[in-house]
Amino acid sequence: MERPAWAPRSIDISVPSVSRIYDYYLGGSHNFEVDREAARKAMEFMPGLPKIMQANRAFMRRAVRFAADEGIDQFLDVGSGIPTFGNVHEVAQSANSGARVVYVDHDPVAVAHSQAVLAGNDGAGVVAADLRKPREILASAEVERLIDLNRPVALLLVAILHFVEDADDPYEAVAELRDALAPGSLLVLTHASYEGIPLPAERAEGAVDVYKDIRNPLIMRSREEIARFFEGYDMVEPGLVPPPVWRPQEAPEDEDPYAFSGFAGVGRTA
Ligand SMILES: C[S@@+](CC[C@H](N)C(=O)[O-])C[C@H]1O[C@@H](n2cnc3c(N)ncnc32)[C@H](O)[C@@H]1O
Repeated sequence: MERPAWAPRSIDISVPSVSRIYDYYLGGSHNFEVDREAARKAMEFMPGLPKIMQANRAFMRRAVRFAADEGIDQFLDVGSGIPTFGNVHEVAQSANSGARVVYVDHDPVAVAHSQAVLAGNDGAGVVAADLRKPREILASAEVERLIDLNRPVALLLVAILHFVEDADDPYEAVAELRDALAPGSLLVLTHASYEGIPLPAERAEGAVDVYKDIRNPLIMRSREEIARFFEGYDMVEPGLVPPPVWRPQEAPEDEDPYAFSGFAGVGRTA
């Protein structure tokens, strides 16, 4: 298989990756046949998967806009993924040209493509790091250069925590990041769940198994388990809800039923 210029030498292009599968669902071009094969297999069980991803991205954009309207001008996006359309830095910097954005991901393609997209953008940077090691994120040169930890930050954990197993203590990682950020900071979060999926859970499990097979398990948590990530935060209205229900610009009932899968919310520290 030929290796395109955007694929770093370090990656094994015969093994699917969650960020490239996600890129495929979103109609992006940074994916290989192995990724598309895994995505198509998951879609045999849950044909509406791309709708879930689109609703996730639409929520993310509304939440970034909300944060900007609240006067937040620093964004730390962990698990930022492969840039496609309507990325966080574009939304944040169109609302406020002085906004600072740091993308963090542990996937080499996500990091390389983010670097390419951000070339020449002095207000944005990329860190190759792992959410499970929050201190490395906080101590990174790009966070030091772009983020003033004495002022509020919008921390984005959008569609990432469902890739962190309980054994890796995702709650502790989220708490460490919360404690490092100034009061008035926001947590913008989405998470997969069997709740809200317009299918019997046994059917959805088939899609979840695809992620197990590629050794990147997808952890479906209950609403209650997801709400625990907001410990120490006050929920912004309307709370932890299906993505299209969070401050929609249009009537959410017009959405595809799949869009209501999982949960989205924003919290603020006092
Ligand atoms: C489904 S994508 C979400 C991308 C973007 N946040 C969005 O919602 O459009 C999940 C991203 O999280 C990254 N990721 C998963 N586990 C991670 C970890 N422990 N540390 C850093 N990044 C991680 C993956 O590489 C992938 O790019």
